Amino acid sequence: MKNNRRDFFRISGLAGLGLAGSSLLKAITPASEYNRNIKSGMTGANTLKTHVQKFNMSGYSAPRLDIVRIGFIGVGARGMSAVERMCKIEGIEIKAVCDKRAEAANRAKKISNESGHEPDVYSGSEDIWKKVCERNDIDLIYTATPWSLHTPIAVYSMEHDKHIATEVPAASTIDECWQLVETSERTKKHCMMLENCCYDFFELLILNMVRQGYFGEIVHCDCSYIHDLNDEVLWSKNRHVDLWQLKEISKRNGNLYPTHGFGPVCQVMDINRGDKLDYMVSLSSIDFMLANKARQLALNDDFYKPFVVNTYNGNMNTSIIKTHKGRSIMLQYDTTSPRPYTRIQMVSGTKASSLKYPLPGRISKGHEWVSDEEFKALEEKYTPPIIKEIGEMAKQVGGHGGMDFIMDWRLIDCLRNGLPLDQDVYDAALWSSITPLSEWSVANRSTAVDIPDFTCGSYKTNSPVNISMPKSSGTTR
Ligand SMILES: NC(=O)c1ccc[n+]([C@@H]2O[C@H](COP(=O)([O-])OP(=O)(O)OC[C@H]3O[C@@H](n4cnc5c(N)ncnc54)[C@H](O)[C@@H]3O)[C@@H](O)[C@H]2O)c1
Repeated sequence: MKNNRRDFFRISGLAGLGLAGSSLLKAITPASEYNRNIKSGMTGANTLKTHVQKFNMSGYSAPRLDIVRIGFIGVGARGMSAVERMCKIEGIEIKAVCDKRAEAANRAKKISNESGHEPDVYSGSEDIWKKVCERNDIDLIYTATPWSLHTPIAVYSMEHDKHIATEVPAASTIDECWQLVETSERTKKHCMMLENCCYDFFELLILNMVRQGYFGEIVHCDCSYIHDLNDEVLWSKNRHVDLWQLKEISKRNGNLYPTHGFGPVCQVMDINRGDKLDYMVSLSSIDFMLANKARQLALNDDFYKPFVVNTYNGNMNTSIIKTHKGRSIMLQYDTTSPRPYTRIQMVSGTKASSLKYPLPGRISKGHEWVSDEEFKALEEKYTPPIIKEIGEMAKQVGGHGGMDFIMDWRLIDCLRNGLPLDQDVYDAALWSSITPLSEWSVANRSTAVDIPDFTCGSYKTNSPVNISMPKSSGTTR
């Protein structure tokens, strides 16, 4: 009884002191040591760091660029499709393509050549990407490597005077989140996390309707990343180099991929721009899927024998969050159960609600969803200008139905016109911080954990994101 009470006070003390701003939860191996450190908060949880905002990057307009000169780092599955999409956008020049694997880098060069770009190729070592960041003729580093490299590449890029667009998640630890914030503020370089789901058609429609007051006050949102990745991604020898994602989830327990569902919800709720996240409670199931799968595969293929371990956990994670203004969010994660894909995307306001999944997306003003005709009329009225402008082309180019292209187009359009980016470094840090914070809560019997305010109070005056009103620059060709 006594010990329990002492533990409780130690844990709540940490939360009360504000895990915000502390450097904790470093991803370290082996799994047992990692879990021990997560649970006790030993990884620096008690070394409080007070960050003072040096410069507010929210709403920041960098000097406009006539041509955006890009260096790509990590051109596996995701990075290669980014190269393909960028080749369809005007006003860019691909100066470098980099991957530790020469065949991937050379393929990216070939694809670039077909659109008239002449990038230099960098490959052959683990830190070859530094050479790309060190060049003085590149404006933007666009990176799609395994998770552990995202922050090192982002920080190094900004230190070398480049804007950075990084795949999700931007950071793996709270320490890394603060590194991104500090570096972006000091260097005045954009640090955008490439959260493509913020640019999906239904999400943009709902965001515009929220802005026009259709939903009234937003009270609650549900979101998730529920995607059965077993066969196509996690265990596929052909999909991920070194099965890096499987290795990540074999030793971590929490919401390991929060941003796809969470990003659009944070934009709808004006998080970092009028409201902030206050605290979170997170709970995981045990592993019912992964160890069994490893055992099955290892029966016929020795390659999988090292994956027969008992450190898997958290097939299904559920986190609930309270915002400073008293609203709530439910966020789920599951990449191993045989379920249909869903990001849920349920927005509940005082006047209306919407639900994207199961498709098709629906809108309601009461007990019933509006009819197909009414939905069409709402779509007509509220479809934002960016969709009207490039929606059709985006569908043709593809990339998750077009949202990837809208994201890239918008990024380049903002850089060429000196507009603020839709997702700033505070969004990158906050949306990514859910993973290490959820790990801490899970490891401590779902104890509430404070969520850092990476804006250091400027959320009170930051303007809401405005994706709906792009300044057209004819950036598409
Ligand atoms: N936003 C989305 O919808 C979406 C979809 C898929 C993947 N992703 C993200 O994209 C990233 C990449 O995922 P992927 O599926 O393309 O993985 P992948 O394994 O296919 O590609 C990663 C690439 O990085 C390269 N790489 C690894 N270490 C490197 C180093 N030190 N220097 C240079 N290159 C290095 C690998 O050789 C590989 O080609 C991940 O962060 C993932 O979360 C996002």
